Amino acid sequence: MGYVAVVAASPRAGGNSDAAADLFARGAAEAGAQVRRAALRDFRVLPCTGCGACAVPPHACVLAGDDSAEELFALCLGASAVAVASPIYFYHLPALFKAWIDRAQSLYARRQAGDPALAALPRRPVFACLVAGRPRGEQLFGGSLLTLKYFFSPQGLDLVEPLVFRGIDEPGDLLADADACAAILAAGRKAGAEALR
Ligand SMILES: Cc1cc2nc3c(=O)[nH]c(=O)nc-3n(C[C@H](O)[C@H](O)[C@H](O)COP(=O)(O)O)c2cc1C
Repeated sequence: MGYVAVVAASPRAGGNSDAAADLFARGAAEAGAQVRRAALRDFRVLPCTGCGACAVPPHACVLAGDDSAEELFALCLGASAVAVASPIYFYHLPALFKAWIDRAQSLYARRQAGDPALAALPRRPVFACLVAGRPRGEQLFGGSLLTLKYFFSPQGLDLVEPLVFRGIDEPGDLLADADACAAILAAGRKAGAEALR
């Protein structure tokens, strides 16, 4: 049986995206799946320096081994489904998440070069939940969703049914929204079903 990887991306412990990650995990477990969790703030991830080393074979990152970026990639590459929960910071994803995203340049390079291990991976779904404090704003999530799509795609992971919630600011705001919680729980169950197939 596979597992569902649940990634929480907020620097703030016990906040809204942690609550979303809990709901994803609960839904997946209710579906009968194994769940493996990671809160990005518990990992050290160095930012990409744009050195260009990964552009040439073997497309390795010079920082691999100096931090936990590869461990986090392994978690997602091995998963039957991924669920990610993040706040919006200045209309995008928080810096600790963006640092990890930029480190996927080596995976992008490997995918472009036709890396057989990546090519052999089945396409799997990524369920995302984004929370933002502002109650309105048409473009609040657009940039983040594009970034998530292109971050996960080289890993064989396709963004499906992103859940976005506005006006969620103080810790506890998400849990006070019963409809939002039900939607995240249901997405967690769908992620769990993927691990049983
Ligand atoms: C540095 C920072 C930047 C933020 N930028 C935005 C923003 O651009 N738009 C918005 O709607 N909310 C913004 N917020 C509010 C958070 O998205 C909101 O508080 C969210 O619920 C935090 O999620 P968490 O509890 O999982 O950390 C920002 C918060 C912080 C700390």
